[in-house]
Amino acid sequence: MAAQKQGEFVGSLDCGTTSVRFIVFDKYANIVAQSQQEFPQYYPNPGWHEHDATEIVEHADLCIADAIKEMVAAGWAANSVKVIGITNQRETTVAWSRKTGKPLCKAIVWADSRTKHTVAQYEQKIEKVGIQAAPGAWVKGAAGTGALRGITGLPLSTYFSAIKLRWMLDNHPNVAEAHEADDLMFGTVESWVAYHLLGGPEKNIHISEVTNASRTLLLNTTTLKWEPSLLEFFGLRESILPKLVSSSEVYGHVAHGPLAGIPIGGLVGDQQGALVGNKCLNQGEAKCTYGTGAFLLFCTGEEIVNSNHGLLSTVAYQAGPNAKPVYALEGSIAVAGSAVKWLRDTMKLIDSAPQINDLAAQVPDSGGVYFVTAFGGLLAPYWDSGAGGLLIGISQYTTPSHIARATLEANGYQTRAIIESMKLDSGTDLKHLKVDGGMTNGDLAMSVLADVGGFTVIRPEMRESTALGSALLAGSAIKLFGWDLTRPETLAEVNTKGSREFAPQLGEEIREKRWEGWQRAVERSKGWDS
Ligand code: G3P
Repeated sequence: MAAQKQGEFVGSLDCGTTSVRFIVFDKYANIVAQSQQEFPQYYPNPGWHEHDATEIVEHADLCIADAIKEMVAAGWAANSVKVIGITNQRETTVAWSRKTGKPLCKAIVWADSRTKHTVAQYEQKIEKVGIQAAPGAWVKGAAGTGALRGITGLPLSTYFSAIKLRWMLDNHPNVAEAHEADDLMFGTVESWVAYHLLGGPEKNIHISEVTNASRTLLLNTTTLKWEPSLLEFFGLRESILPKLVSSSEVYGHVAHGPLAGIPIGGLVGDQQGALVGNKCLNQGEAKCTYGTGAFLLFCTGEEIVNSNHGLLSTVAYQAGPNAKPVYALEGSIAVAGSAVKWLRDTMKLIDSAPQINDLAAQVPDSGGVYFVTAFGGLLAPYWDSGAGGLLIGISQYTTPSHIARATLEANGYQTRAIIESMKLDSGTDLKHLKVDGGMTNGDLAMSVLADVGGFTVIRPEMRESTALGSALLAGSAIKLFGWDLTRPETLAEVNTKGSREFAPQLGEEIREKRWEGWQRAVERSKGWDS
């Protein structure tokens, strides 16, 4: 056998909503090896969406082993990976036992909307009891909701982790018992995966990274500390919380598998990871990732911009334990690629996801059909957990092609709604949008997005931006290749492969008329399940 070449690479473990991937990058962001594994999704009741957290880490181990095998088969020494980063679906909530290291119940996925009643209960609590905005200063009603937003950047919603954890405590007696007995470990997915890779119950390393923590409703995004008044508000003990860490530092070393001994140097929520991977590191730069859902993040630099128009203020990244945090405004759309998956798996309109483009291309427009993809309510900027999924404008004329086109258009309308809010909050009008994610592979999907949204879509050639973001954070932690996230110029040689632009072709008048139709459709979908 020929001698193995010694390389210098960075690995990224991307634990998404439907699959886990491991990608090995070189210093230019060329992909050296990769592996992807889908894992089971559980939908036990309408609106429920669960994961088995053990299956997530089992698939992560498999992916790492596969990708390293591929790298070695290509002639590289197994120890060519110098550091790895982890990026993950955010908000999904895991509860596990300190004693056994095993999950105490299924993880509740970010898109799960079972907690509507828990949200209503806490809305009432804000109304009647209020929230402690500062020591001894209780505020109620709208001022209380405003205070919660001021501290966390978030509204009360089924989306965020504290609400999901509260539901677990109220509905799973074993989780409540573990809470009382100080046996409960709470974490979002990066926390759980890092715990596993860093040695599980033997080492008991319980950490959470700040971009992920900023999605729990428990983090004070100004101080980057857990907020005691919110722990009290949700009735949670401090002992269940992980230690907070930055997005780029060495947290420890991989404990098992082919990467044993390699440092883990980056942790980041997947959407923030894509912001970093697209090198949107300066105020005013934005990207939207169209995966299961779609997430538009607009970098606001070191300033927290509080939204008055339905967006979230979130931590974008913290480039080291002593680095100043960088923030973003975010608009989250719950359903994007998952609507295509529904057309494929449930409605059987297409055999594969990319086919939606061929089907939609058979018609010039949606024939007056609008598809409000509110499968579990609507997120930004509408925030209506009772909104019902709605197909409207159907007639004898409607064909599967119109429905396919309306599905692609729904992305454009929801993206536009978010951009309109961003304009109002930040005073900046976005003329270009960088995009990535599975749905952006289709050229037609991109033209439809540009036409419906009225902005130019920029699609990079290498679109593994989420994984690249966590690789950049991990490399930066050990200054691999001279990378340093606090000095963006050190990343100049990364991913310079070019991009393709899709400019809007549709006339302004038609676009505005259709936009008005979308807004009417949304109004009809609101409050359906109240
Ligand atoms: O907020 C949820 C988001 O992080 C999920 O991302 O790519 O797994 O759909 P994705």
